[in-house]
Amino acid sequence: MKLLLTGGAGYIGSHTAVELLNKGYEIVIADNYSNSDPKVLDRIRKITNKDFAHYNCDVANYSEFERVFKEHKIDVVIHFAGYKAVGESVKIPLEYYENNLNATITLLKLMNKYGVENCIFSSSAAVYDSTKNRRLTEDSPLSCTNTYGYTKLMSEQIFKDAARANPKLSIALLRYFNPIGSHESGLIGDNPNGIPNNLLPYITRVAVGKLDKLYIFGNDYDTRDGTGVRDYIHVVDLALGHIAAIDYCLNNKGAIAINLGTGKGYSVLEVVHAFEKASGVKIPYEFTGRREGDTAEYYASPELAKKLLGWEARLDLEQMCASAWKWQKMNPNGYEE
Ligand code: WQD
Repeated sequence: MKLLLTGGAGYIGSHTAVELLNKGYEIVIADNYSNSDPKVLDRIRKITNKDFAHYNCDVANYSEFERVFKEHKIDVVIHFAGYKAVGESVKIPLEYYENNLNATITLLKLMNKYGVENCIFSSSAAVYDSTKNRRLTEDSPLSCTNTYGYTKLMSEQIFKDAARANPKLSIALLRYFNPIGSHESGLIGDNPNGIPNNLLPYITRVAVGKLDKLYIFGNDYDTRDGTGVRDYIHVVDLALGHIAAIDYCLNNKGAIAINLGTGKGYSVLEVVHAFEKASGVKIPYEFTGRREGDTAEYYASPELAKKLLGWEARLDLEQMCASAWKWQKMNPNGYEE
C-alpha cells in the first residue's frame, strides 16, 4: 500500500508520516517547504528508522507534481498541502484562493489521469458557522468568517463534485478541530514562522522566554469563565484518524465529511492552567479585546468518526500540553540548529 502525502513535511503531515511508517505503510512525501523545513524528513527517519521517497515540488503546479504520479503507483493520497494562517488569509485572499484551490484541482486532475481513486483531505472546523451551534455535527450549518475557511469549504465542494462525476472516487473530508501537541520523541512539532497566531504555540514561546506574555482575546464571552472554548485534539490522535480513514476509503465510494475532534471543549484559561501544570512554568497573561472572527465556544460531535472510522481521540489535555512543551524545550529555535 503506497500513500502520497502532500504537505507531508508540515505539522500534521509529519506526524501522520510517522504513524504510517510505524504501521508499515510505504509513503511518498511531496512538499515545497514553503511553510516547513526539509530537516523534518531526517527527523521522521530518526523516529521511525525507515526511509521514504520525497519530492520538492509545488502541488499546485501540474507538470512539477505529475512527476510523482509518473514515478509511483499511488493507492491513497492524503492532501495536507495548503496555506493555513487565518489572519494572513484575509490580507492576501487571492494568494490563498490561488494556492489552495489550484492544489486541490491539480491533485484531482492527476488522480483522474493516473487512476488514483482514494483521497483524504485536510479540512477544518473553520467551515462551520459556529455562531449558531456549539456542538457541531457534520450537518450543522456551514459558513466561514475568513478566506482560509472558504478555501477549505470550496475545496470540499470541488471534491464532492469530482466524486459525483467519477463514481470510482472515494474521498474523506476530515474536519479538524484544534490540533496541538507533538510526537512523544520531541523531534517534530508545530513550528510556525514569526509570532504564532494559534494559542498553544504562543503559550510555549512564552514558556521558553521568547515572548513576554500571553494576550487572551476576550474574557467577556458567554462561556464558563468568559474566555473562548475550543476542542483541542492531540496531533498524534489526529494522525491516527487519517489511518482509520484509509480503510474507510478503500471500502466506500463517494465524498463524505467527518469531524476529527475529541467532543470536549476547554477554555483559554483552562488550557493555560493545564500547560502550567504539565510544564511547571508559570504563564503570565493579560486580557485584551476579542479577536475579529472568533466565536465564544465550539467543539466537535465526534460520533460519526467513531461510527464510520472506528476511531476516537484518546490523549488528554495534559498529554497535549506536556508534549507541546517537550518539543519547544528541545527545539527552542524550531528546526534551526
Ligand atoms: C484558540 C483560542 C482564541 C491566541 C484556528 C482556525 C482553525 C484551525 C486552528 C488551522 C481562541 C484564543 C489564541 C492568542 C488567545 N486552523 N487565543 N490568544 O481560532 O480556534 O482556530 O486555528 O490551521 O481552522 O480557525 O485557534 O489557537 O488561534 O485560538 O486568547 O494569542 O485561543 O481567541 O479562543 P482557532 P487559535
